[in-house]
Amino acid sequence: MADKADQSNELLQRAYALSNDEETKSLYRDWAQTYDETMLEGLSYLTPCKTAKLLSDYEDNKKCYILDVGSGTGLAGQELAELGFNKLDALDYSNEMLDVAKLRKHNKAPVYRKLILADLNEPLKIATNTYEGIIATGLFTHAHIGAICLPELFRILKPGSLFATTVHKDIWASNGFKNKVSEFEKEGIIKTHYRQMGTYFKTDKEPQGFYIIWESLK
Ligand SMILES: C[S@@+](CC[C@H](N)C(=O)[O-])C[C@H]1O[C@@H](n2cnc3c(N)ncnc32)[C@H](O)[C@@H]1O
Repeated sequence: MADKADQSNELLQRAYALSNDEETKSLYRDWAQTYDETMLEGLSYLTPCKTAKLLSDYEDNKKCYILDVGSGTGLAGQELAELGFNKLDALDYSNEMLDVAKLRKHNKAPVYRKLILADLNEPLKIATNTYEGIIATGLFTHAHIGAICLPELFRILKPGSLFATTVHKDIWASNGFKNKVSEFEKEGIIKTHYRQMGTYFKTDKEPQGFYIIWESLK
């Protein structure tokens, strides 16, 4: 058990030290097949479960069409499916992580309808106002993507829809979230319904970052 926790911590440290997209893709290529085991058993990863529950607390319409952004292997989608959400797509730029997400099932049906291979650093080939919800867990963290992708994500989110996410406290300001969110709020593009610090792993001694619910207003 200690070995598993050590291995998991090593992978997490590798994830936090990434310096470019090639390294990120290479990490997730190596990690895809064992990601769930190391994150859930090795590190008692809580974020997908807590974020899905938060979205469910704010969103009554379980039939809304949700995009799981930076879905990885689909842990957040699995949690949403268990909470009754049944129109889910996954988006990630790692083929290998999406291959695992593709096999994910709930009540014998695939968790995701569509798997979208796309880079959040680029404009998305998705029509404006397509989705009625977005979830992103563990994506906005050390050495991953920053607030640069928010305009595109709010473009594809229908007005009145919710975006449930986590943002690690260490990158909230440095990766542009603080400024971009305050700019969007001032311009009436989004409203923050919930933003509280919380733990991401069961073993965390203190909160690692924010749990957030934004609403797209236009
Ligand atoms: C820490 S994992 C989180 C996966 C999943 N959401 C979870 O909570 O288990 C981060 C995921 O974001 C994806 N990712 C990172 N940067 C990305 C980008 N620029 N475009 C698309 N996906 C990206 C990675 O491939 C990886 O699957």
